[in-house]
Amino acid sequence: MTQWSKSSWRALPRIQMPDYPDMAALNAVEAELARYPLLVFAGEAQRLKTQLAAAGRGEAFLLQGGDCAESFEQFSSDGIRDTFKVMLQMAIVLTHGAKVPVIKVGRMAGQFAKPRSANTETVDGTELPSYRGDIINELAFTKAARVPDPSKMLRAYTQAAATLNLIRAFSTGGYADIHQVHGWTSGFLDHERAEKYREIANRISDTLDFMGAAGVTPDTAHSLQAVDFYTSHESLLLEYEEALCRQDSLTGKWLAGSGHMIWIGDRTRQPDGAHVEFASGVSNPIGLKCGPTMEADDLKKLMAKLNPENEAGRLTLIARFGAGAVGDHLPRLIKTVQQEGANVVWTCDAMHGNTIKSTSGYKTRPFDSVLREVREFFGVHTAEGTVPGGVHFEMTGQDVTECTGGLRDVSDEDLSDRYHTACDPRLNASQSLELAFLVAEELSARRGLQQAKAAS
Ligand code: PEP
Ligand code: CO
Repeated sequence: MTQWSKSSWRALPRIQMPDYPDMAALNAVEAELARYPLLVFAGEAQRLKTQLAAAGRGEAFLLQGGDCAESFEQFSSDGIRDTFKVMLQMAIVLTHGAKVPVIKVGRMAGQFAKPRSANTETVDGTELPSYRGDIINELAFTKAARVPDPSKMLRAYTQAAATLNLIRAFSTGGYADIHQVHGWTSGFLDHERAEKYREIANRISDTLDFMGAAGVTPDTAHSLQAVDFYTSHESLLLEYEEALCRQDSLTGKWLAGSGHMIWIGDRTRQPDGAHVEFASGVSNPIGLKCGPTMEADDLKKLMAKLNPENEAGRLTLIARFGAGAVGDHLPRLIKTVQQEGANVVWTCDAMHGNTIKSTSGYKTRPFDSVLREVREFFGVHTAEGTVPGGVHFEMTGQDVTECTGGLRDVSDEDLSDRYHTACDPRLNASQSLELAFLVAEELSARRGLQQAKAAS
């Protein structure tokens, strides 16, 4: 085996990445990006890793969410603000259920490149290369739009930097002040079917009022006002990742400077492939998608390669099997992890196994399937005596109609109203918050069970 370097992936099979027609242009972009400042810093990635280690022990809970694919055209400060806001709301609700800190990780500031199930797309008899995300080519169905253009990496970097700049401001400013919980949830809680959610929200408010009366206010408790918010994306376009990969002068370790956490997709997790190679050498927390085809043997190899020191918080296994299928797959992978004595964080991506085509022709995900997969995930962990460490959603703060169901009951026919995603369907703000309440119930029931067991 040759030694890892930030470019050692180049000698290995490259899949799901574009073949750029203009190599000179590509090289110029890579050289330019390699001079740019990193988007995140080693100390931040390390802190996230420490927090994820706690999630692996059940002492914290991971909430990871955001766009399937960030878009150049839909980029706006309101969009970032709204997704940030909904994630904080969800986190407060989850904290109430789990009674442990919730780690907030956005699919933001770098989630641009997309793996595709087919290399080409055919519309009315015309076949063109597939859209692969705004960092690579364009969604428009024309030959020119689908040509991979390396200069899009520079635009993606700029958008990611602007996104992070705003997130950093929100994280330290009053926006994160949890005392605003009333205002945040008002629209959602007005719904007539929101009775049980109102009860929980009132309890959260009471707790906050009590803390206020006891002298714990945003002024006296900085931690109530500031939040840790991290970024993540699929480490798919390795030219971009390599250009932003640097060695930390203090520790000598390599950092993927494009985001705090990077993950390996379900299509690019070959143990001897380029994507696993790149991720294996950087010190960031790594996510690994585990779909129905993940075999015990693969997982063993991947854990050995991605986390040879068995460092806690390094590896997050993101299970995405689909509602009805969790029980068929998760137990064997849990067994493998136990046999290896591996430290991992188990989390549930309840989106990618639940995509269907609606009768109206749109790609959608039924809210009930998403919820069901989360419940099955908790059920298996309870049965196995292992720790469900977090959840992973495709969601937005905007009022889109992309997933069906939820309190406001988006129907197949409604999907065309505000279907804005460039890739997979996302939960809207109301669906996201409702899901947080339902997951909080699961967490709370689980705590009840554990306490009963401890007492008996
Ligand atoms: C994604 O997270 O957007 C994605 C493509 O997931 P997966 O690799 O699990 O299909
Ligand atoms: Co997706």
